[in-house]
Amino acid sequence: MIHTDDNNMIKVKDFRVSYIDTGFRDGPVIVFIHGFPLNKSMWRGQIDALKSHYRVITYDVRGHGNSELGYEEFTVKRFAGDLIDLLDVLGIDQAGLCGLSMGGYIALNAIVSHPDRFNTLVLCDTNCIADTPGVTQKRMETIEVIRQYGVEQFADDNLHNLFAPESFTRKKQEVAAVKEMMIRSSEDSIVRTQYALAGREETCSKLHDIKLPVLIMVGEKDTITPPLLAKDMHDKINGSVFKVIENAGHLSNIENPDQFNMNLLRFLKDVYG
Ligand code: MLT
Repeated sequence: MIHTDDNNMIKVKDFRVSYIDTGFRDGPVIVFIHGFPLNKSMWRGQIDALKSHYRVITYDVRGHGNSELGYEEFTVKRFAGDLIDLLDVLGIDQAGLCGLSMGGYIALNAIVSHPDRFNTLVLCDTNCIADTPGVTQKRMETIEVIRQYGVEQFADDNLHNLFAPESFTRKKQEVAAVKEMMIRSSEDSIVRTQYALAGREETCSKLHDIKLPVLIMVGEKDTITPPLLAKDMHDKINGSVFKVIENAGHLSNIENPDQFNMNLLRFLKDVYG
């Protein structure tokens, strides 16, 4: 078993990445990519579920959590390039990927650009479309709110979108932990990432080319990346598995970890044996 603490730093090109590398050293490598504006601590429940059989890596995307901002412009393609660079520095030739929301955008970009580096893909509460004009407009308004009133106001305005209504009574600690992650994000990082997400290209037209085993999960009450969009990705990816997570909104791994982990473990067992 290997274990590193939560703030293990490694230099990757122009910035230092904070990451966790834990679990069964000789097992298949599974890399988890968090959503926006969160950090790698959102995957704690999955690390615990997987660590006896898999080598689990999770990291803070550029500018998030404890990772540095670096000098490069923030784009989803850059974030995907950072992931490839991180794998290179860690000496990992091939890995499985699991990304939620922004993490899913990054995973899809990395798989499209470097298909040979990955052997399985788990997409959670994410989509393959580019922003609609309405969503871009909303991001620009958010940037204004942050500039005028700060990150805490942004967190207060957006927290309710991330969870199913029942999570606010059933998962109070988790909701508080997510708010803490949002508040700890810097204004600079949130603004730069909003521009990156607004500028991302669609990947729907590339889904037919994905030849890996793919699991798609989505919270039944996800209003940010709703089940219909997830089902559309499932229809486009040959042989993919599609699971709707009950009693969950956009953060399905946190809101219903039992169901999420059961689906994840079954899928990984089918893939890796
Ligand atoms: C996320 O959870 O990563 C964000 O909702 C993604 C987005 O804003 O498009």
